[in-house]
Amino acid sequence: MRFAWISAVAMMAALATTSQAAPVAVTVQADKPGVRIDRHIFGQFAEHLGTGIYDGIWVGPDSKIPNTRGIRNDVVTALKAIHVPDVRWPGGCYADDYHWRKAIGPRDKRPTTVNYLWGRVAESNQFGTHEYMDFIDQIGSEAYVSGNVGTGTPQEMSDWLEYMTADPKISSLAQERAANGHPAPFKVPFFGVGNESWGCGGSMTPEHYADMYRTYATFARNYDNAQQLPNGDYDPNGMKRISSGPNVDDYHWTKVMMQASKAQIFSWTIDGLSLHFYSGFDNWPPSNSAETFGEDAYAHVIHSALKMDELVTRHSAIMDTYDPQKRVMLVVDEWGAWYLPAPGSNPRFLQQQNSQRDAVLAAVTLNIFTRHADRVRMANIAQMINVLQSMILTQGDKMVLTPTYYLFKLYVPFQDAEVLPVTYDAGTYSHDGVILPRLDVIAARGKDGKTWVSLTNIDPKQPLDIDLSVLGLKATHATGQTLAAPKIDSLNDFAHPDVIKPSPVEAKAAGGKLMLTLKPESATVVELD
Ligand code: AHR
Repeated sequence: MRFAWISAVAMMAALATTSQAAPVAVTVQADKPGVRIDRHIFGQFAEHLGTGIYDGIWVGPDSKIPNTRGIRNDVVTALKAIHVPDVRWPGGCYADDYHWRKAIGPRDKRPTTVNYLWGRVAESNQFGTHEYMDFIDQIGSEAYVSGNVGTGTPQEMSDWLEYMTADPKISSLAQERAANGHPAPFKVPFFGVGNESWGCGGSMTPEHYADMYRTYATFARNYDNAQQLPNGDYDPNGMKRISSGPNVDDYHWTKVMMQASKAQIFSWTIDGLSLHFYSGFDNWPPSNSAETFGEDAYAHVIHSALKMDELVTRHSAIMDTYDPQKRVMLVVDEWGAWYLPAPGSNPRFLQQQNSQRDAVLAAVTLNIFTRHADRVRMANIAQMINVLQSMILTQGDKMVLTPTYYLFKLYVPFQDAEVLPVTYDAGTYSHDGVILPRLDVIAARGKDGKTWVSLTNIDPKQPLDIDLSVLGLKATHATGQTLAAPKIDSLNDFAHPDVIKPSPVEAKAAGGKLMLTLKPESATVVELD
């Protein structure tokens, strides 16, 4: 048995260096920059769920784990490196159970409440508004706060925003904020009005939610950004209000909310419509293991993730009929793979491992968002730490960076870059009746003025030779990083944290083209010079 295993590894390594198929021609049009890829499509989501906040971010100022004002230093350093544009918080489903007042003021006076949905466990409220704002400040990110529609009132929502954003000179709520340590208003550029209001957020029909939205959004005011316009009105775009949107393919929900967005008569807007879609399973509940699987499960999981393209296309088409100017953003503020819970973990903690397959899944999903960058201007992977498809796993004082983390790191140059046209024949990879594109490529002109190309080889067994041609730019070099793995289900764990890490890659120039070989099941990002 041992001999057979070694042979299989040796065979995979040999295959990884030589491709039997003809090279695939990829052409990048470097002088035709198009739509901007909003950096917010690389957003994160951190909910009070399992160990996502407590242990994952918050250890408290008295912890032996190195921290700054209670927030883990190792996690902050890691997140800074991937330039997290925004963090959605406090939920998720938890947002519609969240009462902000319980988590402000001296921490030793805060009440303990029950996190009913996520395991009926004690919520200490040690991580509240101020701790969240400190955290996003430490990692250099922006706030995306989710308001409570399900169990909250318009007044509670309005008061929270006044507390966070008003001037202490004119607001006693703001004076309370100042007394709690933050005289300057917090910045709240994004605000969600409820979460999954069709389900855990209140089991509403879209018609009922649309009416609720109008009321709540009318009172969801940002006091800091409300600059007066020349006509005397206040700028409604000072803060983007994001409505609860469809569950997966509920196109009726999208239609009703877009109709509502047209009916605006007073000071409320729908600036974003949220879409939630989880992959990794063919039927609910999820039954795939995150950490031990073969090629069948690999192919089915990647296939499930590619459904994102159909969803974004069809929801966007409905939005186009009501909003051809594309004012309203499609905000995919929950996406990622959802597998069986990690063995031995509390199933309500949604804790799971993260493998090279998830890096490929993240690459193909982010590529879909960039192809729809005119409408998808924000997305938040679920979730940032220790929950579902996370960037980081923690255990006591240990921290592991996942393949998904490294994929996000490779994609940093695509933040706020402009899409470049790219043509290629993707070919196919098929297994167990599942047919997938073999290759997935995007290109963009970065904010740095450089030309960046991402190439994902979806085939988990065969390497892929690429002949890259660049039009509109004399490119003689392509250098970058590739993320590949020794086995189809390789992952990083606490005992082996460095199994998967980006490694340098360089293309060879020949005959006016750049040639490189993509390893099986890999994602590669190169910069062209
Ligand atoms: O991300 C986990 C949960 O999935 C979120 O709380 C909820 O919005 C969704 O159903």
